[in-house]
Amino acid sequence: MDVDEILTGLYRESGRQNPYPWYAALHRHGPVSAIAPRPEHRAIGVVAGGYDLVSQVLRDPAWSKQAPPGWQEQEILRTLQSSMMFVNPPDHTRMRAVFAKTFTPRRLGALEPVIVRVVDAQLERMAEAGADGGEVDFVADFAYPVPALVMAGFIGLPEADLSWYRQRVDRIDEFLDVAGKTPQRLARANQAAGELRAWYRELIAHRRRHPGEDLVSGLVEALDSGDVELTEDELVSNLIVLFNASFVTTVYLFSNGLPVLLAHPDVVAALPADEELAGGCVDEVLRLESPVHFLARAAPEDTTLGGVPVRRDENVLLMIAAANRDPARFSDPDRFDPHRGGPPSLAFGVGPHFCLGAAVSRMEGRLALPRLFARFPRLAVTRTPTYSGSLFLRGIDKLFVSTGGQETA
Ligand code: HEM
Repeated sequence: MDVDEILTGLYRESGRQNPYPWYAALHRHGPVSAIAPRPEHRAIGVVAGGYDLVSQVLRDPAWSKQAPPGWQEQEILRTLQSSMMFVNPPDHTRMRAVFAKTFTPRRLGALEPVIVRVVDAQLERMAEAGADGGEVDFVADFAYPVPALVMAGFIGLPEADLSWYRQRVDRIDEFLDVAGKTPQRLARANQAAGELRAWYRELIAHRRRHPGEDLVSGLVEALDSGDVELTEDELVSNLIVLFNASFVTTVYLFSNGLPVLLAHPDVVAALPADEELAGGCVDEVLRLESPVHFLARAAPEDTTLGGVPVRRDENVLLMIAAANRDPARFSDPDRFDPHRGGPPSLAFGVGPHFCLGAAVSRMEGRLALPRLFARFPRLAVTRTPTYSGSLFLRGIDKLFVSTGGQETA
């Protein structure tokens, strides 16, 4: 099977549902391969799935993010291109520094009791919903609200607006998927970006008049005092991207992770009393079932990658979820092993764009998993889970469970 056939298989509905056989085929083909032009790939001529090569490209700041042509004409692309995630130094360094400063140990420490409170409240909701022995949607009652409420509190977004907000996030994420660049999806993403921008401008004006302890208030104050090199437009773009990046990914940490964990009853039984094990489970779930499946970087010059020629400005598709199961780096790569050790997975990326919120979602997982299984030691999946259908952000978006009675303690 050649690499183009592998990609065709991967992008089909069945491939998105279960991409792992296609990634195994990609590894058999080699760590990096040239590919034929495809309608869904703009300027991508090479695909890499080998851990070492993917990591090498991501670590090298000379391999850059590339703006799509005509980005200035589209609200969504203007938004992305004025945020840290989509730009290169020096703008990237400048913007990232502003936000990195806000993820202080003090702020992260203050988040711990907030996470515990949010988790316990959602466990209570699950207990009520499952009290009569009925099914509970783990995504609707736990995996989605936990990160959404934690991040809304951290950033300072009014909770009442979250469901309105989520619809806009979904439209942007649909556009970001590999097959998402249709005119309809672009139009929907443009509209969502415009509405979110207006919403944030109002929030900023409000926080300027009534500051609180939250991140938006802190950033507005820093902006107004001239302490940070950021325009108000850039602040809005970065807030949109920060919240988008923070919660769907963490939703999938929980929803993709639950079936994996339930397949290991010994781990589930040990989790309530073992926070270190919880940390190992979070990392291993993210390796095995990465919420983000691919990234892209453009070559700084005509060069070769693992012997494959890459032209200047040509994009390489970096399959981080495949790299996380590279048999050359992870022995028995499809096996769940929370004590695995070894190289870190690339689920949070690596290098200059390494996930700014990795510590936040790791903390959410480490605190939530022991509490979840302490409360519901007999939790069980009752139906085949359904996936979002996106490969860029791949995750379970419906997961019915029975709570199976709970510990009365
Ligand atoms: C399990 C949860 C998460 C996963 C799997 C994840 C994954 C990633 C990945 C792969 C990147 C690298 C993008 C690239 O190199 O192009 C990234 C960047 C980023 N993430 Fe996360 N993320 C998660 C949670 C979060 C959270 C909770 C936040 C915010 C609190 C966050 C904020 C960001 C930001 C702002 C960036 C851009 C950093 C930069 O470009 O310098 N993420 N994330």
